[in-house]
Amino acid sequence: MSNIQQQLDDRREAALAGGGSRRIEAQHSKGKLTARERLDVFFDKDTFEEWDMFVEHDCNDFGMQENKIPGDGVVIGCGTVNGRLVFAFSQDFTVFGGSLSAAHARKICKVMDKAMLVGAPIVGINDSGGARIQEGVNSLAGYADVFQKNVLASGVVPQISMIMGPCAGGAVYSPAMTDFIFMVRDNSYMFVTGPEVVKTVTQEDVTQEELGGATTHTSKSGVADVAFDNDIEALLQLRRFVDFLPPNNREKPPFRPHFDDADRSEPSLNTLVPENPNVPYDIRELIVKVVDESDFFELQPDYAANIITGFGRMQGSTVGFVANQPMVLAGCLDIASSRKAARFVRFCDAFNIPIVTFVDVPGFLPGTAQEYGGIIKHGAKLLFAYAEATVPKITVITRKAYGGAYDVMSSKHLRGDINYAWPSAEIAVMGPKGAVEIIFRADRNDEDKIQQRTEEYREKFANPLIAAGKGFIDDVIEPAETRRRLCRDLAMLRNKDLTNPWKKHDNLPL
Ligand code: HXC
Repeated sequence: MSNIQQQLDDRREAALAGGGSRRIEAQHSKGKLTARERLDVFFDKDTFEEWDMFVEHDCNDFGMQENKIPGDGVVIGCGTVNGRLVFAFSQDFTVFGGSLSAAHARKICKVMDKAMLVGAPIVGINDSGGARIQEGVNSLAGYADVFQKNVLASGVVPQISMIMGPCAGGAVYSPAMTDFIFMVRDNSYMFVTGPEVVKTVTQEDVTQEELGGATTHTSKSGVADVAFDNDIEALLQLRRFVDFLPPNNREKPPFRPHFDDADRSEPSLNTLVPENPNVPYDIRELIVKVVDESDFFELQPDYAANIITGFGRMQGSTVGFVANQPMVLAGCLDIASSRKAARFVRFCDAFNIPIVTFVDVPGFLPGTAQEYGGIIKHGAKLLFAYAEATVPKITVITRKAYGGAYDVMSSKHLRGDINYAWPSAEIAVMGPKGAVEIIFRADRNDEDKIQQRTEEYREKFANPLIAAGKGFIDDVIEPAETRRRLCRDLAMLRNKDLTNPWKKHDNLPL
């Protein structure tokens, strides 16, 4: 007995030592925490319970039988974050470079299975040299097992990937299939092939950071959601983020005590929209002014900034916000913004999170770049996402709602539950000037006539009255009262019950 206890103690000590002090120092010298230190920051104090600390790889090639470290490069288990259950795995770069062996993969699959079984979010902290080279195809098989779990878990429990070190080759596809990806600046990267291969194949000179660093993926590719300056900031923000998420697809979003009056009026919103319809304004101000305590977690703030997506709370309960941003590209829909918002809407719908949409959209971005890039299919993604969503959907048109983009942005016609307009709303097929130049083409050289016709058109269509007269808008509200109306509607819609026709799955325009 005492012999067994001694062996357990020895192995536990070996597991906790990871790859040893030299490698831990190397990790720290890069400004990175170790796998367990990261879990300590993320979970509530003393709540994390680790499993499979004694698991070792079973590889006998290349001298690996003599080289075993208990835990095999990944720490798995569960704990609480602000009192709510969360599962996690955290790759240990100090052990074989965090590389994925068959045993390492089995551990990840085990914790994912448990998260699915009990219905709680799973966080994966990635810091790995990729497939364990000594294990060959066994490692590839392990990756595929993880991929399969990611797909089955998608839409069942929230999956969040933290990229806190290398993540290269096929290994990127596990995070890619999770719901959210957070990265750390200067210390993490994701790419399918690294700079050397890129140089050989395309003759391009590019650094790791340029090719797949946090800035690249949060501003250029849109692969990742948010970039943070260091491990601590990333993990503390992850704690804040997880608080917004429901544990699984069968439960409602979490409720948090709140101190913000549901009836709070916000008079400054009455002057948010400028008199001149061509002058931009910051729609983010509207979101921040209506959510509880101004607490808004924005996703992809540096990518496709012509649309804003993120979570806030209304009367303590999570709400997903989508808003056209007039400050960037006049708030038009293009390929990137359509994809960004579509994925967000689908996440909200999968996890029972009501969606509030603020609309100020002049239409789809014209041009060959957009058409050749497939704006038709990409724009359809957002249309599809809104149309299939069965969660409560509330829409507020603050200014422009032109053309097809009016339909797309959670209109009444796509089963919007409550659709409002501010008095400044303009709901029409297109802007007055463009419309007049088409329908009064014969007058196009007569400045005065065009001007007069434009004013006539503006008078007739550039307002919310016609849409309201047809019931496409439920009410025209004073901007200051937006929070009060949203809170009431969300309460009214809390038990909304809407089901789409049975199908194996839909065929989203990918
Ligand atoms: C086994 C690995 C490893 C790997 C790193 N190590 N990657 N061991 N398999 N894939 C070990 C190193 O031998 C070293 O061990 C320790 O981890 C730290 O590695 P260093 O190279 O010293 O660290 P650093 O200089 O920071 O460089 C990190 C790195 C580099 C850029 C990740 O290690 C590297 O290029 N590794 C190989 C990456 C790779 O090609 N992986 C396969 C990709 S293909 P010691 O004992 O010295 O500390 C792939 C396919 C997945 O992943 C397919 C899924 C479908």
